Amino acid sequence: MSARAQIGVTGLAVMGRNLARNFARHGYTVAVHNRSYAKTESLVADHGTDGDFVPSESTADFVASIARPRKIVIMVKAGGPTDAVIDELIPHLEEGDVVIDGGNAHFPDTIRRERKLADLGLHFVGMGVSGGEEGALNGPSIMPGGPKESYATLGPILEDISAKVDGVPCCTWVGPDGAGHFVKMVHNGIEYADMQLIAEAYDLLRHGLDADAAEIGKIFEEWNAGDLESFLIEITADVLQHVDAETGKAFVDVVLDQAEQKGTGRWTVQNALDLGVPITGIAEATFARALSGSVPQREAGRAALASDAGTWDVTDRDAFVEDVRLALYASKVVAYSQGFDQIAAASAESGWGIDRGAMARIWRGGCIIRAKFLNRITEAYERDADLPLLIADPYFADIVGKGLQAWRRVVSQAALNGVPTPAFSSSLAYYDGVRAERLPAALIQAQRDFFGAHTYRRVDKDGTFHTEWSGDRTEHDA
Ligand code: 6PG
Repeated sequence: MSARAQIGVTGLAVMGRNLARNFARHGYTVAVHNRSYAKTESLVADHGTDGDFVPSESTADFVASIARPRKIVIMVKAGGPTDAVIDELIPHLEEGDVVIDGGNAHFPDTIRRERKLADLGLHFVGMGVSGGEEGALNGPSIMPGGPKESYATLGPILEDISAKVDGVPCCTWVGPDGAGHFVKMVHNGIEYADMQLIAEAYDLLRHGLDADAAEIGKIFEEWNAGDLESFLIEITADVLQHVDAETGKAFVDVVLDQAEQKGTGRWTVQNALDLGVPITGIAEATFARALSGSVPQREAGRAALASDAGTWDVTDRDAFVEDVRLALYASKVVAYSQGFDQIAAASAESGWGIDRGAMARIWRGGCIIRAKFLNRITEAYERDADLPLLIADPYFADIVGKGLQAWRRVVSQAALNGVPTPAFSSSLAYYDGVRAERLPAALIQAQRDFFGAHTYRRVDKDGTFHTEWSGDRTEHDA
């Protein structure tokens, strides 16, 4: 077996298969391997014309077919299966080889795996890949972490197969150890928020306009020609206009309204809780999926809870549509702002040095949240790399400010008419919270001191204080 492959891919389900084809189409000789050889054979039989594949049945042959230092991409289900494949590869690997995990791994697992492989003289790169099947084949957004030195040889290949926007690859080295998978996790959290916000906009239009799915699909189509232009808005327009072949009804009307998840949104929220970063948009989006799937609770709620909402009578339809568009844009900016805050906090805590502007840049193409406005985010971080709050950047402060009245109208009308808008509402609440001169947190501090002597600080002098609430109410230094 001559070691002629420049890269190897093991795990040939749809993502791995398409990634392998993408490498081959870019002129790389690709070693391919899968637990069941039939998949490897079918890849070569069906897509051999894509380029030069080197199929192997055994792990030993697969590894031996790759030139050193080897670059091996693992594309299997995140969790146990990834560990199993790594353990299978290890005995065949040699010092300096690079193992790349392209699955949606939880970043603490990536950190653990990198340590384990580093002890063996091997490099481990946790690599976020976004764009689904289509992206994997035609150009995904790629978020590799791991040792920087491995990016020197791996980076050019990954940049080659990634999506390009204005000729710029949607791939860059994110940072050491778990940084790549961390950023992919937050990408997915933002994806959840974006999807929830779009779903709420759809629901508002449906109730407010009493319109059918196809009409709303047309509205999304128009929105996609403006500031909101993005992959998710585009597919929403398409999905809403799709008709179910079996019933002739709008497709969205025959789909069960229980949203599922594989866990990346949940991880994002769990991590934000640990970091103490308010990512309310992502959290509400994740909880909204949970609520949708809470079948017994929804049954009980439907049976017992009144709405006491009137009939929604929108008089100026065009103005209402524009209000919803502005509210969607503002809420979306909040969700991204919060996600970027989380990246900054984790990066500071772990010493990853993540460049947020570069993350917005590599999300402009290939990935699920690709959108026109990501350019604006990159520009904001170019203006100020340490920007503490994305929505406070002059560009975003201005556009959110201009839509503020609309945003308030939409959220209040939704509440008056009993339409749930957890992500719209919480984003507006966050906006009002983060810009508030003074928050009622002062009262919470006083309450905490009252019942638990938890102490407080004062606005007028330094130090920490406690009041003797159950005694003479004198204050003393704590
Ligand atoms: C992507 C997607 C992709 C996938 C997730 C989300 O960036 O290509 O985020 O990773 O769609 O698995 O799926 P869930 O909604 O099932 O969590």
